[in-house]
Formats: sequence, C-alpha cells, structure tokens
Amino acid sequence: MAYKSINFRNLPFGFCHFLLTILNSRRIEKCVTITYFFNKAPHTMPDPIERAADIIASAKRAVALTGAGISVASGIPPFRGKGGLWEKIDPMKVAHIDAFLDDPETVWNVLIKEMKTVLDKARPNPGHTGLADLERLGILGTVITQNVDGLHQKAGNSDVIEFHGSFAWQRCLDCNRRIETSRVDLAQIPPHCRCGGILRPDCVFFGEMIPPEALDRSQHMSATCEVMMVIGTSAMVQPAAGMPFIAKDNGAFIIEINPEPTPLTSRISNLPLLGGAESIMPRLLQAVRQRLASP
Ligand code: OAD
Repeated sequence: MAYKSINFRNLPFGFCHFLLTILNSRRIEKCVTITYFFNKAPHTMPDPIERAADIIASAKRAVALTGAGISVASGIPPFRGKGGLWEKIDPMKVAHIDAFLDDPETVWNVLIKEMKTVLDKARPNPGHTGLADLERLGILGTVITQNVDGLHQKAGNSDVIEFHGSFAWQRCLDCNRRIETSRVDLAQIPPHCRCGGILRPDCVFFGEMIPPEALDRSQHMSATCEVMMVIGTSAMVQPAAGMPFIAKDNGAFIIEINPEPTPLTSRISNLPLLGGAESIMPRLLQAVRQRLASP
C-alpha cells in the first residue's frame, strides 16, 4: 500500500482536514498520515507510528476501543460512510428494538440473515491480530468493542468487553434462554426457541440499554488506562463514544487509528494515525517489538 507522511507545518488543523479530504477524493494516496509537529523542521520530524510505538512500548495498562472499521478488512461493511450499511437501510426500520418487536420476520429477513452470512465468512485481519499480539506482549489488557463479530476473541484477545453484545448467541424473547447462533434452525423465519418464543440476536438494538456490566467495566477500564487506542470507530454513538473522553479526563494518552478524521481527532486525540487498521497495526507492532528487543 502506498504510504505517505505529510507535514502540514504551520497550517490550521481544519485546513489539514480539508487537504486530506482532497487527497483522498483524488485517490492520490491510499494511506496518509498527518503529523502535527508544527515547530520542527521536516527532516527532524518523527514518524507518528514511531512516536506511537514509543508510547505503547512503555505502557503497562493500554486499552483499545474498537468499532466497525477494524473489521472492514475482514469483509464486514461498516455502518456509516462509504459502503456503510446505514446508507442502504434505515437503522430505525431494522435495528431499533421497536422495529424488531413490531415485525421480527422483516428484521430477520432484511438484516439478521444477511449479517449471519457475512459474519460466518469473516476471519480476523492484521488489525485484530495486532491487538492480540499487544496483549501477548503484556501491554494491552482489555479490548472494548462495539462490534458483535467475535473477531477479537478469534484473534486471541482474552479480555474483550462486548459493549453492544454478541452475534454468536440468540436469546428467546419469552424465556430468555440463550442458544448459539450456529445451532439455530433458519428453516423458519423468524426462528423459534423450543418454548415457542421468537429468537433475537443477543446484541444491543437501538433503543436498548447497554448491558450494565459491560458499561461499568468499560468506564472503569477507560478511567484507569494510561493509553487508549481508538480504532475504526466513527465515535458517533453514545455511550461508547464517551469512553475516550473518560480516558482523556483521567490522564490517558489517546492514539487514534482511522483513515478518516472523527469528532475525537481534533478534540482529544494526542496522536491520530490516519490509515486502515490492517495496514497501520503491523507497522506499529514491528516498531513496538524493536523497542522491546533493544536493551
Ligand atoms: P461506523 O460505521 O460508524 O464507523 C466506522 C469507522 O471506521 C469510520 O470512522 C471509518 O472511517 C473507519 N474505518 C473504515 N475503514 C477502516 C479501516 N480499514 N481501518 C480502520 N478504520 C476504518 O462504526 P462504529 O463506530 O463501530 O451500533 O459504529 C458504532 C455503532 O453504530 C455500532 O456498534 C452500531 C452502529 O449503529 C448498534 O448497532 C447499536
């Protein structure tokens, strides 16, 4: 992948974003990293990935907050932006709990069956495996994910908070029994539990509460981490989008990995690494390993 590091010296932040948008729209570079070291000459400018590696290699309590973007390279479309799911279907008609309760058959046919087909095929990509490697290196503790695809666990992370639940399980609307999605018979839509109740994914629909334990633990991990890596989220959906603010308010260093700026980028990110997680993470890992190997 083409990679370019651009120093927008002495330019206002908003103008940097404007330039980036033009570069991206003209497909000049697939992956652009902006650096904000305004007072340094270009030849002394540190590569932001090297700088992120310095921070991460010396961290003991790093936490990651991930969103749909980290799974794009695994073939799972995001919700917002180009190719996003919510461009094609209205989330209020298919992803709101009221829509499901009104017409579970339509929601199963339009959204859930399609999700199952896509998620069944998906495998972890270097974005996920990079986070698992950071756990093995003793740097990363918890992954807070908004994703329901289970790819962090498949990659090898052992402490994953599934903020919006998990697609791996279905739950009965009547008796609350949980059944693995892989064991659900889809011959009849919507599928039913053995008690006769309708099954729903064990995910959080719009209009529902975040599971209290996931919310409490996420807030705690955010408040106590030294570094938060925010990867592949548009940071548009609360309360997940509030976690980086909790981290920042408690002194954490915020590293953001995303090909596009987000509402966090200009407000609280200490180090935005602009690019796909699948391409940034391997480079970051290599730089972290080099630091750990040198005495
Ligand atoms: P979004 O679809 O809102 O945002 C995806 C983000 O990933 C965007 O900021 C993209 O720029 C970025 N992105 C795209 N490709 C990427 C790549 N290769 N590497 C890294 N980043 C990339 O997804 P979320 O922020 O996760 O909730 O959305 C949050 C919640 O909104 C979801 O959990 C879901 C949705 O509605 C519910 O369904 C309750």
